[in-house]
Amino acid sequence: MDVIATIHALDERLAQAGRVAFVPTMGNLHEGHLQLVRLARAHGDTVVVSIFVNPLQFGPNEDYHKYPRTLAEDCAKLTDVGCDVVFAPTVAEMYPTPQQTEILPPPVADELCGAFRPGHFRGVATVVAKLFNIVQPTVAVFGKKDYQQLFIIRTMVRELNFPIQIVAGETVRAEDGLALSSRNAYLSPAERAEAPRLYRTLLGAAEAIGRGDRDFPLIEVNARNELEAHGWRVDYVSVRDTATLAVPGPQTRQFVVLAAAWLGDTRLIDNVEVMPAHAA
Ligand code: PAF
Repeated sequence: MDVIATIHALDERLAQAGRVAFVPTMGNLHEGHLQLVRLARAHGDTVVVSIFVNPLQFGPNEDYHKYPRTLAEDCAKLTDVGCDVVFAPTVAEMYPTPQQTEILPPPVADELCGAFRPGHFRGVATVVAKLFNIVQPTVAVFGKKDYQQLFIIRTMVRELNFPIQIVAGETVRAEDGLALSSRNAYLSPAERAEAPRLYRTLLGAAEAIGRGDRDFPLIEVNARNELEAHGWRVDYVSVRDTATLAVPGPQTRQFVVLAAAWLGDTRLIDNVEVMPAHAA
């Protein structure tokens, strides 16, 4: 496996790479990322994983500086799952001059997480567009854990005609249901014990919708109350249409329940799709 830090060296390495399958990450890899890499392996001749903590997508008071940077451990894990190339650029390599050109993501980027993290998805879309141009993959793999991000990237790829197939990987969970996330490392033991409630609460909401309940405001309030009663600070719990990420309307056939909530200083996100068999 080659670990490459410059765009020039990556160009040379990928000159004869065939179909490139790409997994963009910010590192501190866990089993969720490794599943995405295995998925990429099945979609290309050469698997490229980028590791880059992108300053553009962090707000001024967010965790950019404390975000865990674990390149050596990440590379050991990536070797084991058949990654061919790690692209780990510096900030100066990615942004040699202040980034004046940015991607304006679709309006849904200002809702859900975007309402609480202004500019976040603009930063994500911009770095992903840059990485797509640098890596020039045939396929790129993103996790459903970041459901809104996946939706925004799919929209960007479609509307800007990137010749890239986007493949979605399922969320990987700990045995108690907590979605794997690099930010789980911030949780204290007591918070870690409480954290699976987020998934359980979303499952409960999804099951209610699956049974035919269509009182979405009440479902959202009940989920919020359940979390707040156990010490969570809830940014949002929201039922959305999977096709548009809009609030469901009469045409909606498939639903997803998304949430972001804080345990102490740690913000967790998760989502549960309502099983199509129960959604009609
Ligand atoms: O999901 C992430 O880890 C990041 O948002 C991404 C897609 C690598 C862009 O920095």
